[in-house]
Amino acid sequence: MSGAKDAIPPDAVALADYEALARERLDDNAWAYLSGGAADEITLRANRSAWDDIRLLPRVLQPLSGGHTRVELLGRTLAHPVLLGPVAYQRLAHPLGEIASAVAASAQGAGLVLSAQSSVLLEAVAGAVRDDASRGPLWFQLYWQRDRGFTRALVERAEAAGFEAIVLTVDAPVHGARDRERRAGFRLPPGVSAVNLASAPAAGAHPTADSPARPPKRPLAPGQSALFDDLLLSALTWADVEWLRSATRLPLLIKGVLHEADARQAAALGAAGVIVSNHGGRTLDTAVSTAWALPRIVDALAEQAAAAGAEAVPVLVDGGIRRGTDVLKAIALGARAVLLGRPYVHALAVAGAHGVAHSLKLLRDEFEIALALTGCATPGALSRAVLVHRSD
Ligand SMILES: Cc1cc2nc3c(=O)[nH]c(=O)nc-3n(C[C@H](O)[C@H](O)[C@H](O)COP(=O)(O)O)c2cc1C
Repeated sequence: MSGAKDAIPPDAVALADYEALARERLDDNAWAYLSGGAADEITLRANRSAWDDIRLLPRVLQPLSGGHTRVELLGRTLAHPVLLGPVAYQRLAHPLGEIASAVAASAQGAGLVLSAQSSVLLEAVAGAVRDDASRGPLWFQLYWQRDRGFTRALVERAEAAGFEAIVLTVDAPVHGARDRERRAGFRLPPGVSAVNLASAPAAGAHPTADSPARPPKRPLAPGQSALFDDLLLSALTWADVEWLRSATRLPLLIKGVLHEADARQAAALGAAGVIVSNHGGRTLDTAVSTAWALPRIVDALAEQAAAAGAEAVPVLVDGGIRRGTDVLKAIALGARAVLLGRPYVHALAVAGAHGVAHSLKLLRDEFEIALALTGCATPGALSRAVLVHRSD
């Protein structure tokens, strides 16, 4: 799983160190794809600064014995609330790609969400970790495909391979305006492709924010739009979510929600969870930060559930999580768990599975320290009482 070149660099003591080291190792093509955001990258930066703008108000002299980082999620107890989020084409970062990330997640008890556009077959990734006793949840991220039959077949493959939930990404019906990639002339190198989608029927896999840009599939009449008259003809709607809910026995989570009304609709349609995300700032630039959207969605779902006398579905969040204090702030705002995107792919590029495992360990250690220093022994003890908005 590793060689000398996958050794953990002694100067990597925080996730940001892996980002700087990855920049030195990756070529401009891979860097533009793996690190970039949409347009002016305002949302990409806002995701980070929104966490920084929340300050902590610790309590001292609190009893901390028996503390831990465990959380409950979809009927399981997780060692800590960090999952590796879905990131496409990880063989751009390391020859072992998603296999290395999965093994690292498993070694650290972290959940793994495998991208539909993974560059390693979903069966191979599941097979590498499925039987590990200490692994976290194993979820499959689905992009809606042009063909319902093919969508169903993908979900059935994920079920058969041992994935335990489907994460449907709903914020990327089109490729964002990704200037950084266009400037770099981004191309997938030979040997890196969306292997799970290779058998898509003639209409092809539905291109997404994470596919390389492509010309329209069919000739357009003058005045027609490549978006509205071609690509978006097969885009996902709430009716498709309803269909998918009934087409799988696995819990369905909806990823890419920023608006309270969409969160409520997802829960009403039977979603098992909602992931507050703006795709790491890769789709709609100037969209709100996830730290801004998170408490609004948590409150909306709590209110909806209380009115129905039910328990609210869990909310997860991603975007700009780089520090244990970010994890703590997310949980204090009401998230059950967080997902990482770029940081673990940077660690993958630098030191393969060792790097990813190390970055997860760094984040968990920081989270433990942050819990202790805010005077909270467990994630369950966190509340908004420890948070102060910088302008407050
Ligand atoms: C290179 C790259 C590829 C991504 N591919 C996918 C994908 O295939 N499916 C998906 O739902 N989200 C994808 N995302 C979004 C991530 O799952 C996640 O929402 C985002 O990266 C979180 O922000 P962060 O990178 O600041 O941690 C991708 C993100 C990056 C950076």
